[in-house]
Amino acid sequence: MTPDDLKKTAEIIARARSVISLTGAGISVESGIPPFRGKGSLWETIDPMEFAHIESFLKNPERVWRGFLAGMKDLLDRARPNQGHLGLVALEEMGRLSTIITQNIDGLHQLAGSSDVIEFHGNFAWQRCMTCDTLIPSSDIDLSVLPPRCDCGGLLRPDCVFFGEMIPDLSLSRSRALASTCDVMIVVGTSAVVQPAAMMPVIAKNSGAVVIEVNPEPTPLTHSVSDHFLRGTAGRVLSALVEEIRKILD
Ligand code: APR
Repeated sequence: MTPDDLKKTAEIIARARSVISLTGAGISVESGIPPFRGKGSLWETIDPMEFAHIESFLKNPERVWRGFLAGMKDLLDRARPNQGHLGLVALEEMGRLSTIITQNIDGLHQLAGSSDVIEFHGNFAWQRCMTCDTLIPSSDIDLSVLPPRCDCGGLLRPDCVFFGEMIPDLSLSRSRALASTCDVMIVVGTSAVVQPAAMMPVIAKNSGAVVIEVNPEPTPLTHSVSDHFLRGTAGRVLSALVEEIRKILD
């Protein structure tokens, strides 16, 4: 990322009518949550079809809780927002960002202070009973016995979207509507390989928006959809971008 790239993208965001962001696991890496793909990622050691697919969960909930979900809860309980999340909050406070569409289930955007977050894949902060549909805060569940159960005896599952499940209708329709009407989409920390989330930058681009991508590595979007590729980590790039935009707006 050159100073010129930064200046150009800062100008675009400073002058835009409507800016949204799509984020992926990469923005939470600096909070200690490993990504799903790439070096040191979750799917390097855990087979998502065995541990993150609804069929596997229904077949053997204890195995999925023991082999994946309990560890995920530990990681998320300890994670706090990083400079990347705070950079998006600063853009919102400057009136330069309205909504974040996140694929993440860690709730760190809301914890950082972002006020309009579409949780495309749900949120691990809540567990849902598969019998009585009660929602229970994940912080309240006891993992000494797996799988955890509701007081009614029903099985608890994270209020997240497993592989093999549909994206909640409202999340999908709102995201499509925002992607097709925004001027700028800032895409941060996603490998852009999981649908339908990976379609959002394409919808934005096809609707005439400028797509700005923030990632230490190129992705399938970089050479075909992204208008600007700011190579680097979310914390460093978003902090620099906020400073550049402040200079323009002050
Ligand atoms: N800052 C920004 N981006 C980073 C950083 C960082 N510090 N570290 C890694 N990345 C980038 C990687 O280069 C990669 O492109 O973040 C991306 C992480 O990709 P994935 O792990 O595939 O995460 P994501 O795109 O969100 O996955 C989509 O797949 O398994 C499902 O449900 C899961 O929501 C997830 C979906």
